[in-house]
Amino acid sequence: MTDTTETTGTGDTRSPGQVAILGAGVMGETLLSGLLRAGRPAASLLVGEKRSERAAELHERYGVEVVPNRDAARKADTVVVVVKPQDMGDLLAEIAPDLRAGQLVVSLAAGITTSFIESHIPEGVAVVRVMPNTPALVDEGMAAISRGSHCDEGHLAEAESLLASTGRVVRVPEKQQDAVTAISGSGPAYIFFVVEAMIEAGVHLGLPRTTSTELVVQTVVGSAKLLRETGEHPTVLREQVTSPGGTTAAAVRQLEDHKVRAAFLTAMEAARDRSRALAEGSS
Ligand SMILES: NC(=O)c1ccc[n+]([C@@H]2O[C@H](COP(=O)([O-])OP(=O)(O)OC[C@H]3O[C@@H](n4cnc5c(N)ncnc54)[C@H](OP(=O)(O)O)[C@@H]3O)[C@@H](O)[C@H]2O)c1
Repeated sequence: MTDTTETTGTGDTRSPGQVAILGAGVMGETLLSGLLRAGRPAASLLVGEKRSERAAELHERYGVEVVPNRDAARKADTVVVVVKPQDMGDLLAEIAPDLRAGQLVVSLAAGITTSFIESHIPEGVAVVRVMPNTPALVDEGMAAISRGSHCDEGHLAEAESLLASTGRVVRVPEKQQDAVTAISGSGPAYIFFVVEAMIEAGVHLGLPRTTSTELVVQTVVGSAKLLRETGEHPTVLREQVTSPGGTTAAAVRQLEDHKVRAAFLTAMEAARDRSRALAEGSS
């Protein structure tokens, strides 16, 4: 296995086969709309969705064919399973008779291992496990992909190409997926937590809530862009704002005194451990 940390940006133009998305909830619809925006023709996409009103809505909104799961699994080259982890066993049992060696199953379910999926489907079907995150909704997602045991470079490249339609993609060995879940999977929640805290602080300091929100959101967006576009280490960028004896130094001193850095480490260890426990429960 040759896992790398190479990252793929949006815009990969690898030629697509037929792709089925089974489970078009929040993440499934995000992927579906991203693939269409990235130029995949609606005719190359199939959706499996069990509720008929939801199926009609997706057909009307995106012009894609919505078919029973088993038909989708039979027709597609790549079958993307995007149901809740607790529904995965039932879905795999339903489609297993229609899967064949050479097809690719891509799972976006948190904590579901490739070995769990492989044990529910025919021998020789390739499996790729993905941990996406919600900024995929605005094409700024971060997805980490890991290969199962029957996966070749072409399968990994296809999974990468799918996920690149909603953001960036990195390849990791599967044993790192619990850490990925703790960092980028849950990561947006930590950032929103910090944003909430800063907005509240602005209100405490006497700013109108709308002004405080505008200041904080743009500061977060601008800081993220600065990190990405300069490629500088965050310490360098933080030091640029921190004059000796100045206002930022006074604030950072308080963050250090309150052990915020240590709290982040403990929080992410807890998320990693929870992810590991959930994965052990599923396999
Ligand atoms: N949302 C996130 O931030 C996020 C981040 C990382 C990973 N994920 C992963 O993405 C997966 C989906 O999450 P989600 O937030 O998109 O959940 P969701 O909104 O509940 O979507 C799941 C969809 O699957 C449908 N479904 C369930 N069983 C099905 C079946 N047998 N055949 C076809 N469709 C079926 C559900 O329909 P009903 O509503 O009718 O049951 C629902 O529309 C999860 O495994 C999660 O771990 C999500």
